[in-house]
Amino acid sequence: MASGLLLRRGVSASRLASPATRSVPTRFHATEAEPAKPNLKTFQIYRWNPDNPSKPELQDYQIDLKECGPMVLDALIKIKNEIDPSLTFRRSCREGICGSCAMNIDGCNGLACLTKIPAGSSSTITPLPHMFVIKDLVVDMTNFYNQYKSIEPWLKRKSPPPEKGKEIPQSKKDRAKLDGMYECILCACCSTSCPSYWWNPESYLGPAALLHANRWISDSRDEYTKERLEAINDEFKLYRCHTILNCARACPKGLNPGKQIQNIKNLQPGIGH
Ligand code: SF4
Ligand code: SF4
Ligand code: FES
Repeated sequence: MASGLLLRRGVSASRLASPATRSVPTRFHATEAEPAKPNLKTFQIYRWNPDNPSKPELQDYQIDLKECGPMVLDALIKIKNEIDPSLTFRRSCREGICGSCAMNIDGCNGLACLTKIPAGSSSTITPLPHMFVIKDLVVDMTNFYNQYKSIEPWLKRKSPPPEKGKEIPQSKKDRAKLDGMYECILCACCSTSCPSYWWNPESYLGPAALLHANRWISDSRDEYTKERLEAINDEFKLYRCHTILNCARACPKGLNPGKQIQNIKNLQPGIGH
């Protein structure tokens, strides 16, 4: 491999040394051009370390966007790799599937891997609002996951499948009823943008868990629709939603949890909330 390289260089060098060489007007060559000006941007990032529990602060990091990928997650990874390995955040898939990189970027909840680095000389990145912070941009999702678990997000049947040992069939039309819900990746962008959830995080189930409740209520194969509706027919679990629709604006998958919550309310006996 090394000798091959040397050989190619040798060919080029002998051409330059050829007696046929004659002078030509001066030109600028790419390698001699002025280095491109950097495109500097400052990221103000929320920092808090449980091992040194002083006041949380915003720390400035400046990077050259010309040497960085286009997404906010690219910037965070660059900062962690090249400036400060102690910066802590969650990420996994890098393509909007795992939901783990949810955070607040310039005041809006979103996925860092799907959010383009905003224009302007500085941006502020903080954890999802109104959540307990574990470290830097990592929040405690325990309450959120427990609420998801409480709606029993799995198929529940009273009767056996039509054909023993086989799957339960579903028509295309019934399957289509799950569109707009099955796509949820449980990132929590919606719940943590909902004012009702901010004020009642323990008692109000929040838009994500309620969207999933409606996903199972709407599933033609599930035989616990009535029980599911009864379980959440509660002043706090369900009716804290006041249709403000912050949730729909925040969802990085384009879903509308507020609409799904309204569907649950419509199915409850004695609508009037
Ligand atoms: S529509 Fe309901 S769930 Fe969505 S943000 Fe408003 S109050 Fe919260
Ligand atoms: S509904 Fe949207 S914002 Fe809410 S958890 Fe699911 S994917 Fe995230
Ligand atoms: S890294 Fe998976 S959604 Fe962003």
